[in-house]
Amino acid sequence: MAFSRPPDCAGVAAAERSPATALAPPDGVDTMDWDQLREAVRGCTRCVLCEKRKQAVFGVGAAAAPWLFVGEGPGADEDESGEPFVGQAGKLLDAMLAAAKLERGREVYIANVVKCRPPGNRVPAPEEAAACAAWLDRQIDLIGPRVIVALGKTAAMRLTGRESSLAGLRGKAYAYRGIPLVVTYHPAYLLRNLPDKAKAWEDLLFARRTLGTAAA
Ligand code: URA
Ligand code: SF4
Repeated sequence: MAFSRPPDCAGVAAAERSPATALAPPDGVDTMDWDQLREAVRGCTRCVLCEKRKQAVFGVGAAAAPWLFVGEGPGADEDESGEPFVGQAGKLLDAMLAAAKLERGREVYIANVVKCRPPGNRVPAPEEAAACAAWLDRQIDLIGPRVIVALGKTAAMRLTGRESSLAGLRGKAYAYRGIPLVVTYHPAYLLRNLPDKAKAWEDLLFARRTLGTAAA
């Protein structure tokens, strides 16, 4: 379902979108429940990405999923549908999940670093990722996943706090908010670099070992 853009995005909120304000967490975010969080994200004007979105793409999955996958940001298909990873990259992600006997909505939650589509599918700017961080952090706290998988460089840099190539970041276990974090290629990259799918598979196995049980 498409939602109309909040009326205050382009005008009143412009001052609020100064980087300094955007970096302060939204009021009350740490105590929001799922409904409050969803509503706050739907009307969010914390960064310029609110201006061109059709709708914010909140995230999808089981509320207490052991696996959390974090992508970069919605593309055109996601902006249209309101669900993350529904386009071509999403189909590959679902196939990778299925190979690992995982399924979105069952033991997997899927979210993005930014919830609103960057125009032209450009990489989100660091200040946009920072403005959106509090929403993802609250999602993480509510879900309480046992492992986080960062998909691609934007998520990897945002969650590890390191600046490096994806190749330099993968293969190690990090922690984010106390939760084990691993890094792998973005499915959109894998669509263009099919041989690297084997490495992404290794990363999923590594994530599973990091999570610590074959059953989850
Ligand atoms: N790419 C992403 O990073 N996220 C999506 O939701 C879709 C494509
Ligand atoms: Fe708000 Fe995030 Fe959308 Fe920016 S990308 S307007 S911070 S929900």
